[in-house]
Amino acid sequence: MKALFRKKVIVEGEEDHGLKKCLTAMDLTLLGIGAIIGTGIFVLTGHAAATQSGPAVVLSFIVAGLACGFAALAYAELAAMVGGCGSAYGYSYAAFGEMVAWIIGWDLILEYGVAVAAVANGWSGYFNNALTAVGFGLPDYLTKSPASGGVVNLPAMLIILALMVMLIVGIKQSSKLNAAMVAVKLLTIAVFIGIAVFNVHPENWSPFMPFGWFDHTAEGKTIGVLAGASLVFFAYVGFDAVSTAVEEAHDPQRDVPKGIINSLVFCTIIYIVVSGLLTGIVPYTDLNVSSPVAHALQQLGYNWATALVATGVIFGLTTVMLVLYYGLTRVIVAISRDGLLPGYFAEVNPRTHTPVNVTVITGLVMALAAGFVPLGTLAELVNVGTLAAFVLVCAGVIALRKSHPDQPRPYKMPFGIVLPVLGILSCGALIAFLPLTTHLRFILWLLVGMIWYFSYSVRHSKLAAQS
Ligand code: ALA
Repeated sequence: MKALFRKKVIVEGEEDHGLKKCLTAMDLTLLGIGAIIGTGIFVLTGHAAATQSGPAVVLSFIVAGLACGFAALAYAELAAMVGGCGSAYGYSYAAFGEMVAWIIGWDLILEYGVAVAAVANGWSGYFNNALTAVGFGLPDYLTKSPASGGVVNLPAMLIILALMVMLIVGIKQSSKLNAAMVAVKLLTIAVFIGIAVFNVHPENWSPFMPFGWFDHTAEGKTIGVLAGASLVFFAYVGFDAVSTAVEEAHDPQRDVPKGIINSLVFCTIIYIVVSGLLTGIVPYTDLNVSSPVAHALQQLGYNWATALVATGVIFGLTTVMLVLYYGLTRVIVAISRDGLLPGYFAEVNPRTHTPVNVTVITGLVMALAAGFVPLGTLAELVNVGTLAAFVLVCAGVIALRKSHPDQPRPYKMPFGIVLPVLGILSCGALIAFLPLTTHLRFILWLLVGMIWYFSYSVRHSKLAAQS
């Protein structure tokens, strides 16, 4: 039993596991932007403004961005220091030992897996709208899951299977495709900003904070800027996926921290500008629609806007799924290599240098989930999972400063442990503002994880076997 609490030793340099080292700092930054900008800004902003924050949704973005900023610096310190074992899973292994690492790895599987399947549902809606616009719209029974009155959500399944093929072909090719699609989504955003800037009516920003920082509705629902921050936090999910790319980065200790911080800073600025402009051009009360950015442009008389934004969203959501799916496979490879999941998942194909087994299996599971289960409401589970990982990464910085004070840290968070503590507090607070049902579902997922750990992982753990 004692072995379970043993920590992994931090090793300098990399072992060769067959994955190809081909990603530059720029590739990693673009992967970060690919994973970050998506449903959050194109869809959730309107809902959060109309029901939670009002025009102060911009403050919700700043609050959520700050919490992510603390976590991103913590990721950067650990990515630079721990090197070879990337992602919150690897850092927790070095800081807290196997059991905590397993919990966080299991939690990352939830984060990335549910996010991909949930985003595929949103993607399918936009894709079918685009098909309808050109006269090839699919019938309801092919675009909705059985619980929503259809038979199967076919586009959601097919996009996941297409990404599966892409990720099998190779990571460099996937990263090139990602870069092209990121360019399209950024162009869409640039066009929106270019139009919106000349159409702001400052009176729309008043009242600025109609629901205050924190309040309750008569039905007991939490509202206000902070609840809005918990919701729009989804818009930031994904920058952490960059940390799963350590084994494929040219110079992980230098480039992974850069990729994480650059992509987060860039996207935070975009979110503040876009959400500020959106509530400036139309009254926030009009924004509770499925495509608020297109809706706002239409209100201004730009009817071609729907097509433009739809293109941006379709490409945007594709990159979100691509990078999170990538992150999912790499986390499972790392966990399986340590023996906590079957080793079959960790096998790397010698020809493509990609982990084909895990890519196919997770792709099929997510495609089935996206095709047959209505997943929209599960998106909040992604937030709680991600926030829990951030709390542990911040705590990991503090733990490793104590246990390995002399380990070289090419990047170190400034001001002692103040910033990691603020990270723990702010991410913890955002967890508290999420709905109770989300907390319960998360606990259920963790319980299933603990059952697996004690029935399988403890008997197959490589680390336990060594001691
Ligand atoms: N951050 C990603 C999005 O907003 C998950 O879609």
